Amino acid sequence: MPKLNIAVVGGGNSGEFDISIRSSKRVASLLDPLKYNVYLIVIKGNNWEYINEKGRHYKINIQDFSLNIEGEQIVFDLVFNAIHGTPGEDGKIQGYFEMLGIRHTSCNSITSALTFDKYFCNKVVSSFGVKTSPSVHLFRDKRISIEEIVKVLKLPVFVKPSCGGSSVGMSKVTHCNDLKPAIELAFQHDREVLIEEFIPGREITCGVYSERGKSKALPLMEIVSKKEFFDYEAKYDPQLAEEILPAPIEENLAERCCSISEMLYSSLGCRGVVRFDYILSNSEFWFLEVNTVPGMTAASIVPKMAIKAGFELGKFYDLLIEEALRD
Ligand SMILES: Nc1ncnc2c1ncn2[C@@H]1O[C@H](COP(=O)(O)OP(=O)(O)O)[C@@H](O)[C@H]1O
Ligand SMILES: [Mg+2]
Repeated sequence: MPKLNIAVVGGGNSGEFDISIRSSKRVASLLDPLKYNVYLIVIKGNNWEYINEKGRHYKINIQDFSLNIEGEQIVFDLVFNAIHGTPGEDGKIQGYFEMLGIRHTSCNSITSALTFDKYFCNKVVSSFGVKTSPSVHLFRDKRISIEEIVKVLKLPVFVKPSCGGSSVGMSKVTHCNDLKPAIELAFQHDREVLIEEFIPGREITCGVYSERGKSKALPLMEIVSKKEFFDYEAKYDPQLAEEILPAPIEENLAERCCSISEMLYSSLGCRGVVRFDYILSNSEFWFLEVNTVPGMTAASIVPKMAIKAGFELGKFYDLLIEEALRD
């Protein structure tokens, strides 16, 4: 078999740039060099480049996503997407690759765009019979008064940019006087804001991938934040959040969480490996969000889950590549 040319893309245009670079480098380092020619590509704004081992930069030709290295034309068999946030997780880069007919390891453009918007995603997820928190949705130019919000939602609430990540611009609000500033803060990050009732309970996350088209859940993890919730600091400071793998919950609950997640993966038309986050409250799983390009650094959750499931990581990424090339 000839070696495949794989572009591992990282970077992007969000606050998750650095973490994405670390994810992409980690994935590239684990791909089997006997099977793949691996090109690490950094995407930032209109500047898309391949950086080789010696630190030399080569521009990507954005017209066809090819490379010219010292006169040699390189085209890619597949893109391994490790861009968290826009444009790697919201359908934009997926649309670009789909227009060029280049296969990639992530969800397609429609699923990515839908799931990236927490409000629209919640609507669809609840239509599949999964619990989501009661919520109010605001557009920058379609506001609802604070009185109306507190009439329909019970405090405390979470106020979040609908298309955010890493808990940036998000607040937990307990007093109605704090709602307005929290909404203004969220609007600094997005033109849509989601206000959700707080669901008390335990935080459980479930990775799902597919094998020959069948969705499969990885072992569940419980996250115990030492902060008030799993905020930006708790996400990136291991001292501030405890990760328990596998999650110490009853077997029947774990099975239910896995089957909900596998159902959502298929129903939403997911591809590659994704991570569903829930709050377990009174034996019910409340869906919080799905991360369609989850972190892949050594400290990230999904690689730990895959190892716990018995995978050698390079083999797990082989599987994601095979699935992306399958149809
Ligand atoms: N409705 C909610 N009830 C309870 N906790 C929540 C709720 N919404 C968010 N949280 C807390 O905030 C964290 C971040 O929220 P999330 O919607 O996952 O945003 P992000 O995309 O930034 O990770 C969650 O991991 C959880 O700790
Ligand atoms: Mg989250």
